[in-house]
Amino acid sequence: MSNFANIGKRIIELTSCHSTNDYALDLITKSEAQAGDIVYAKNQMGGRGQKGNIWLAPKGENLTFSLILTPSFLRPAYQFELTVFISIALIRYLKSKAIEAEIKWPNDIYVEGKKIGGILIENKIKGSKLGFSIVGIGLNVNQTDFGMLNATSLQLVNHQKYSVYEELFNTFKYMNDVYDSLKRGEDIRKEYMRYLIGTDHEILFDDGEQFLSKVVNVDDFGALELDKNGIIKKYGIQDVKFVKL
Ligand code: BTN
Repeated sequence: MSNFANIGKRIIELTSCHSTNDYALDLITKSEAQAGDIVYAKNQMGGRGQKGNIWLAPKGENLTFSLILTPSFLRPAYQFELTVFISIALIRYLKSKAIEAEIKWPNDIYVEGKKIGGILIENKIKGSKLGFSIVGIGLNVNQTDFGMLNATSLQLVNHQKYSVYEELFNTFKYMNDVYDSLKRGEDIRKEYMRYLIGTDHEILFDDGEQFLSKVVNVDDFGALELDKNGIIKKYGIQDVKFVKL
């Protein structure tokens, strides 16, 4: 049996839907999902982002899709590895487009200080294992007007228009490569840390008080380690804000 992750072997293509993550969850609940499935919506009307935010994507301009995985080789405590995997895959994909991207902890993808992509991972735990994972990805492809948002797109960076559907296929190679590395137990953390914003310069953070720190580390469970006035503190995603990159 091939160990290849088969990401993208089956694509569920929707003209429009509320949220591809919700649609993927529905497939899982109905036992109709297979590992590697992609749920892709040309028009996502109720996209969800991190911390309960909404994710807006003008019809047909950007990539909005969800990947379904069955990472039974990972214990739930180590689910942050999925964040590491997908962040690296997107960074490598963007590199293939001559775009040098960075990761803003935990999994925002930035180019030239502006957000180009976001990730929302939702897991279904089965006993002591991760049963299913839904990896939702929003990538700005052809959008050029973001209003007040600090965001960018492939088109804005590279001054060319892309076929959104073609770019969906172009991401599969990178997702398969990195997921296979993760499954084989290879150390993908080093690459994640290499692209993380703030390991080489101080950033202004806010945990209720503002302070300057470099990113000291990200621990095995995904907590951000910062140096707050000489003391190393660990933060979850709700506990700290990036004020200035
Ligand atoms: C973020 O807040 O940065 C995460 C955004 C994730 C958006 C994607 S778009 C496809 C998938 N379906 C959703 O409802 N959300 C994710």
